[in-house]
Amino acid sequence: MVRLNCRHCGYVWDYQGVGEYYATCPRCRYKVRIPQTGLREVKGGMKRSVIPMKEEQPVRLFGIAGLVNKVVEEYQYKGDMLIQILLKLQRGLGWLPMEALMEVSKQLNIPLGRVYRVATFYKAFSLAPRGRNLIRVCTGTSCMVRGAQMILDRLTSLLGIGPGETAPDLKFTLETVNCLGCCALGPVITINDTYYGNLTPASVTKIIEKIKGGGLE
Ligand code: FES
Repeated sequence: MVRLNCRHCGYVWDYQGVGEYYATCPRCRYKVRIPQTGLREVKGGMKRSVIPMKEEQPVRLFGIAGLVNKVVEEYQYKGDMLIQILLKLQRGLGWLPMEALMEVSKQLNIPLGRVYRVATFYKAFSLAPRGRNLIRVCTGTSCMVRGAQMILDRLTSLLGIGPGETAPDLKFTLETVNCLGCCALGPVITINDTYYGNLTPASVTKIIEKIKGGGLE
């Protein structure tokens, strides 16, 4: 028996097999090299001497798998950090493609259905590409009585998209939210992480024209 440590996901387990050079990690299914030192039992009960091998290099992953691996490693492969992991991935990718959800499920060893449920439950996650400028219009009661509908109508006509839609050139995504937490400044919108308050249709037009002209993006 030999204690193995998966270089890919960090899982540690006792391997019972004999005469093998590689074992498959029970958690992430990556091949782990079995250290070959001294006398080893081989199939058939015989023993043979083997030469110690060099330390194995960790498996390197590329693309979405590599990014997911970097993030889940940061959160120490903890399944209860799923929301934080998905938020961080979304910040990196701009949205959550199905390939990323599948990788998260594989690398955290949790069912894909659970990952998908979390990704579709919270409004903060998007399973479709988002524009470079995410505009959120507050349609909470306080902002609505201060003219939020006029702001939303103006944005819809300026951008040519409705709430929940993304422009085909991926420049803008328009969303509505129930409250942005600064009701006294209503009507309020956010563009990416910047708040704009006390808006009028004229002031919101200026902001969008600035972004379109490259002044604010
Ligand atoms: S209702 Fe708009 S910020 Fe609260």
